[in-house]
Amino acid sequence: MSDWTHRHVLDLAAFSLDDYTTVLELAQRFRAMPTSGARKLPALQGRLVTTLFFEPSTRTRSSFELAARRLSADVLSFTPGSSSLSKGESLLDTVRTYVAMGAELLVVRHRATAVPQHLAEALDASGGRVAVLNGGDGLHSHPSQGLLDLFTLARHFAPQSPTPEALRGRRIVIVGDVLHSRVARSNLWALTACGADVVLCGPPTLVPQDFADFVAAPPSGQRLDPVVERGTVQVLHDLDDALVGADAVMTLRLQQERMQQNLLTSLDGYHQRYGLSQRRLERCGRPVPVLHPGPVNRGVEMTGELLDDTSVSLVDEQVCNGIPVRMALLYLLAGAVSALPAQV
Ligand code: CP
Repeated sequence: MSDWTHRHVLDLAAFSLDDYTTVLELAQRFRAMPTSGARKLPALQGRLVTTLFFEPSTRTRSSFELAARRLSADVLSFTPGSSSLSKGESLLDTVRTYVAMGAELLVVRHRATAVPQHLAEALDASGGRVAVLNGGDGLHSHPSQGLLDLFTLARHFAPQSPTPEALRGRRIVIVGDVLHSRVARSNLWALTACGADVVLCGPPTLVPQDFADFVAAPPSGQRLDPVVERGTVQVLHDLDDALVGADAVMTLRLQQERMQQNLLTSLDGYHQRYGLSQRRLERCGRPVPVLHPGPVNRGVEMTGELLDDTSVSLVDEQVCNGIPVRMALLYLLAGAVSALPAQV
C-alpha cells in the first residue's frame, strides 16, 4: 500500500496493475471481517465522509455510507432537493460548505461528465486536503463499480486469492447498452488492465464499432497509459456468436433516460436478440457466471428466472462486494489526505 499515489479516484484509466492489486488485496481483507458483532474498524475514527449525489442511486450511495461507517467515519449525506441549491447556491460553494464542516472525503455523483474532476481540481487549487471519489459521472466513469465488478470476477475465478492475475486470458462478454454506460467504460479499463479479453455485444446503435479502440490510448488530459500491455477488445453484434467460449457475461441496463433518440425498435425485440436466459447461456459451452451492475429491467436484459438463480447470477454478490471495495477506496484516500492512525 506504500506505493498508492492517488489523491482522488476519478477514472480507472489512471490505474496501474499495482493499483488494482492494492485495492483487491485490501477489499479481500475487509471482506473477511465479521458481518455481525464487532464489525467496525477504528481506521477512520474522527474523519468525515460526505456523499453528494446529484443523481439517484440505491447501491452506490448506501454502500459508500455503510463502508464509511464500518471504518468508524462520520457520514453526512447531501440531498439536492432539500438543499440551498434551490436558492441559487452554486455546486462548488455547496461542496465548500461541507469542506468547511470538516469533510475530507467527498463521494460525488452527477449526470454531467467530469463534475467530480472539476470539483477535485477546484479544491486542489484552493489548497484543501480533500479527496474526491467519483460515484458516477454522466456516461464517463463509475470507478467503484468497475472495481467491485473486477473483485467479484476475481473472487469467482480465484476465491482464495482474488488478484488481477485471476482475470488474465479470460473472455468476458459485456452485452447491452455500452454507448450510455459509464459502468462498461470503467470495466473496459479494469478488465483489459488485468489481461482479460473483452467482447462487447449489442445492436450497432448501442455498441458502435469504434468501442474496439476504446483502451487503445489514454483519455485526453492523461499523457501515458500506466498499463504496459492490455487485453483485447472486440465488438460483435450477434450474441450467440459472442457467448461461444465465454468465461463470464456481464449484461448492462438499457438506459432509456439517457437515449436522445429512438435507438431501439422494441424492448421485446431487444430481449429476443440480446436478453440473457439459462437457455441462451448454453452457447458458452460450460457454466458461466452472469453479472449486472443494477438496477435490472427484469425480462429485458435478462429473465427474472436467471436473475434469481444464485448458482449463476452474481448480482447479489456484486452488491455485497461493493462494501469492502469502497472501504478499501475510502481507506486508501484517507491515508492520501492525512496519516492514518494504524494499519489494518
Ligand atoms: N450500479 C449502480 O450504480 O447502482 P445505483 O445507481 O443504484 O447506485
